[in-house]
Amino acid sequence: MNNSAAAIMRDRGQAALGSLGTRTLVFVGLMGAGKSVIGKMAAAAMAIPFVDSDHEIETVSRMSIADLFERYGEGEFRALEQRVIRRLLKDGPMVLSTGGGAFVSDETRAMIKRRGLSLWLRADLEVLWERVRRRGHRPLLKTDNPKATLAALLEARYPIYAEADLVVRSRDVSKETIVGEVLDAIVEAGSSEGSKR
Ligand code: S3P
Repeated sequence: MNNSAAAIMRDRGQAALGSLGTRTLVFVGLMGAGKSVIGKMAAAAMAIPFVDSDHEIETVSRMSIADLFERYGEGEFRALEQRVIRRLLKDGPMVLSTGGGAFVSDETRAMIKRRGLSLWLRADLEVLWERVRRRGHRPLLKTDNPKATLAALLEARYPIYAEADLVVRSRDVSKETIVGEVLDAIVEAGSSEGSKR
């Protein structure tokens, strides 16, 4: 990015932060949607911290997500995920990227709705598949037909992700374009909040 593009991004970031206030911006969506990459850039533009819930879970458990699933099962992982997200939601403003299953849990989703501003990074199956197919670290995709598994997760989860406050389409355009759309969506959410009052 050249200097003037960076300055524009900072301006949009400041406007977005004004609308976010002290809340945490929570990225939700399927694996491969770009929650961490886009989340990090959005946090940088707003000059607030970025935290990845999977990374935080790995730090507190001192285990990889794959090992956690293998040793303790998905149920334990979800319980830990919920505890970590509950704690992080108290520390806004920040940007929090969550694992693909977090928002699917009723309790975790309710918590995020109460305390955060949620943003669904929505992507088509082919886009997601191209991004996840070469990386083997995701326990839920260790199946005989990982693309079919991803398609089934998409089918099951998209109606739930649709409950997020904001939606931005993740697709094959520059990351800066997506981040710009994220920042603008936050600003717009703020102005529609204002007009409701
Ligand atoms: C999961 C997604 C992963 C990780 C875990 C379970 C899911 O995170 O939390 O493997 O249920 O979709 P990413 O969405 O960051 O890959």
